[in-house]
Formats: sequence, C-alpha cells, structure tokens
Amino acid sequence: MAELLKGHIAAVTGGGSGIGQGICQAYAREGAEVVILDANPDGARETVDLVTSAGGKASALKLDVTDRQACRAAAAEIARTRKVSILVNNAGINRRNPMVGDPAAVAKDWDDILSVNLDGMFNVTHAFLDQLRATRGRIVNIGSIQSFVHVSWPNSAAYTTSKHGVLGFTRALAAELGKDGVRVNAIGPGLIETRINAEARATNPDMVAAVMRHTPLNRPGKPEDIAGPAVFLASDMSAYVTGCIVMADGGFRTV
Ligand SMILES: NC(=O)c1ccc[n+]([C@@H]2O[C@H](COP(=O)([O-])OP(=O)(O)OC[C@H]3O[C@@H](n4cnc5c(N)ncnc54)[C@H](O)[C@@H]3O)[C@@H](O)[C@H]2O)c1
Repeated sequence: MAELLKGHIAAVTGGGSGIGQGICQAYAREGAEVVILDANPDGARETVDLVTSAGGKASALKLDVTDRQACRAAAAEIARTRKVSILVNNAGINRRNPMVGDPAAVAKDWDDILSVNLDGMFNVTHAFLDQLRATRGRIVNIGSIQSFVHVSWPNSAAYTTSKHGVLGFTRALAAELGKDGVRVNAIGPGLIETRINAEARATNPDMVAAVMRHTPLNRPGKPEDIAGPAVFLASDMSAYVTGCIVMADGGFRTV
C-alpha cells in the first residue's frame, strides 16, 4: 500500500456499483477513509464489505443526489465527526432513447438524466463546499467521452448534454476555487463494463464493435482502469493540476 491518500476522508457518490465501487476500493487501499453516498443501499453495503474485508475503512449513507436537502443533511451528518477532503461526483444514469419518440417519455428521460448527472453534482458539491474549502480538498467529477462527442452513441442528447455540463462545471469551479487551494478535475471514461451499459452491451453488439474500432487499445475498460486516474487526481501527485479532464478511454478521443 503506497498510502497516497492517508489521512483523507473521501465521499464517493454512486460508490455502490461499477466505477464508483472501483474508486472506493482504490482510495481505501491508498489509506483514505471512504464514505459511500448511494441511492442503492445494497450496493453501498457491498462496497463497504469489499473495503473492510480488505482491511480498509468505509461506511455508507443512503443518499439520492437529486434531493438537495438530503445532500445538505448528509454533509452535516459527516461534519459532526470529520471533514470530507475528497469528493467524487460519480453517481450517474443513462438512457438511450431518440428525441423523436413519445414526447412524455423524451421529457422524462431529459428530466431524470439532467437531475442526477448535473443537478446531483451541483447539490452534492454545494453541500460539501465548506468542508472541501476547510481541508483545501479535491473534487473529481466523472465526465465521459460524451463530454466532447457522441459520435458512436446516437440517441443520447440528454446524456451528452449532462456530460458536457460536467466538464463546464469542472472548469468553472476550478477557476473559482483555486484561490482556496481546492482542486477540481474530471475523468473522461470510455466504454467501461458496468451495470449502466450492461443491457446495451448485451443487446447492441454493433455499438460495442463501433466503439472498439475507434479505440486504439482495442478493449472495453474495467472500473480498475478509472481507479488509477482517480487516485492521481485526489492525491498530492497532481498538486499542480486543476480544471483538467483526464481521458481514460483506451485512446478513443485521440483518433
Ligand atoms: N460505464 C461507462 O462506460 C461510463 C462511461 C463514461 C462515464 N460513465 C459515468 O461513470 C459514472 C458511474 O457509472 P457506472 O458505469 O459505474 O454505472 P453503475 O450503474 O454501475 O453505477 C452508478 C451508481 O450510481 C448510483 N446512482 C444512480 N442514481 C443515483 C442517485 N440519484 N443518487 C445516488 N446514487 C445514484 C447507482 O445506485 C449506482 O451505484 C456515471 O456518472 C456514468 O455516467 C460511465
């Protein structure tokens, strides 16, 4: 264990599955205490078990990031005993439906995706801002290759919009919080095998093949592939890095 994050308290939204779970495990291995904030208590409990059985420290709070009041209450609950110094805004959802479909369904997809991926990121960040400023902390937001493009993913206007917003928020906040010593960065994963795309991978092999043709490393990613950049951006190894997006996409955006 290198203990790059020793002494840190890391709050990870959506830490009960996929990329967030991988980040929690990596942060704990590096010595951070991890607090999992997830709407799904079963997933959160699974992550707590994985971390603690490996000798790390973790706890979970059930939280729907779309609930602004609940985000404030969670931050206040944690602040009673310690201060969060690393925040990972990772909770996210996706649906791939065309804009020309049933108007009510299209509007619901828009509302749901924007409220989790974008409003949720604001709600949680705002709730933890005092703690992050007090600790000269670090924020890591999970963007996407869809923070730039949606070439291989038709029917994803809402998701693409949300992930462009993640990048805009990252840059704007980095500019604002730099004077407080708070660093704000993002990670842009490519196609990572998790629950969010399990159905798409199972039912749409052409989409996966199209992405792989555009991916120099020629394989889908795993949550562990995102954990390394997430440790880097949370640790002092990136002390002079802010406002960046680190692409962890097998080279997708390069070609
Ligand atoms: N898997 C990929 O290919 C990929 C690529 C680029 C970006 N991302 C992003 O990575 C992040 C993590 O996704 P994943 O692939 O691990 O998916 P996942 O479905 O495995 O995990 C998402 C987690 O977010 C939680 N969550 C969903 N809505 C929530 C809410 N309202 N409040 C609190 N928690 C909530 C879920 O319970 C789950 O634990 C997302 O922001 C996603 O957009 C994923």
